[in-house]
Amino acid sequence: MRGIILVGGLGTRLLPMTRVTNKHLLPVWRYPMVYYPLYNLVEAGVRDIMVVTGGNNPGAFLELLHDGREFGLEHLYFTYQEEPRGIADALRRAEHFAGGERCIVMLGDNVIAGSIRPYVEAFAAQPAGARLLLKEVEDAHRFGVAEFDEAGRLQRIVEKPAQPRSKYAVTGVYMYDELVWEILPTLQLSERGQYEITDVNNEYLRRGMLEWDILEAAWSDAGTPESLLRATAMVREAGWEPVLQP
Ligand code: DAU
Repeated sequence: MRGIILVGGLGTRLLPMTRVTNKHLLPVWRYPMVYYPLYNLVEAGVRDIMVVTGGNNPGAFLELLHDGREFGLEHLYFTYQEEPRGIADALRRAEHFAGGERCIVMLGDNVIAGSIRPYVEAFAAQPAGARLLLKEVEDAHRFGVAEFDEAGRLQRIVEKPAQPRSKYAVTGVYMYDELVWEILPTLQLSERGQYEITDVNNEYLRRGMLEWDILEAAWSDAGTPESLLRATAMVREAGWEPVLQP
C-alpha cells in the first residue's frame, strides 16, 4: 500500500501568506501543516510515501522532511507537479511510484485530529474499489458533497454545490485500488480548468465500487484564513500531535 501526499497548488485563498511560501508549510498549532497528513499515514502503518510538490518553494519539503526519519521512515519519495491542474492531475504525477498498486492519497491541507488506521484497515480488507471518509459539516458548499437516496445509499458526489443536498463533505483522504491508474488518464478538464478528484470518485461510484465511512475524529481543511485558524484550535484542543523520533 502506497501513501501519497499532495502539496502542490498555489494556495491563493491564503494570499499574501502564500506569496513567497507554500501553503503546506504554514503553521497549524506547533507543526507545519504537512506534518499532520504525513503523520496520519505513518500512524496508519503506511511506510512507502511520496510527496507530490508544486507551487511555491517545492524544494522546501525536502529541506523540511529530509528522508522522513523524524517520522520513523527509512526513506521519503518526492516528485513535482509542473502546473496546478487539479488534485487528480497531482495524483497522476505519482504514477511512476504507485502505478499498478493500491494507494492512500491525502491532501496536504487536510488536518485530522485522530487516527485513520481503522479506515485504512477496512480498505485493506476490501476486495476491490475505493473508499472515502465523509464528515458532517456546516459549510458543505465549500467541499465535495455526498448525496444519498432515501435508503441512505450514496448516489453521487457533487463538487462545491451552491445548494448542498447533504451536510456530508468528502474529506481529503482517498483510498484507491489499482483501477485508479486506469481512470486518471480518462478524465476531462472541468469548467474551472482542473482534473477533478470528484470525477474519479464518481467513476468508482458508477461502477458500484465505492465504499465510505464517517470519519470519527475532528477534521478541518486549512486552505482559507478561517479554516486555518479552525484547524489550529482543533488540534490544540484535541491534544493530537505527531509523535516524532528525536
Ligand atoms: O478538503 C477536502 C476538499 O478538497 C474536497 O471536499 C473537495 O472535493 C476537493 O476538491 C478539495 O477541495 P479544495 O477546493 O479545498 O481543493 P484545493 O484546490 O484547495 O486543493 C487541496 C489540496 O490539493 C491542496 O492543499 C494541495 C493539493 N493540490 C491541489 C491542486 C489544485 C495539488 O497538489 N495540486 C493542484 O493542482
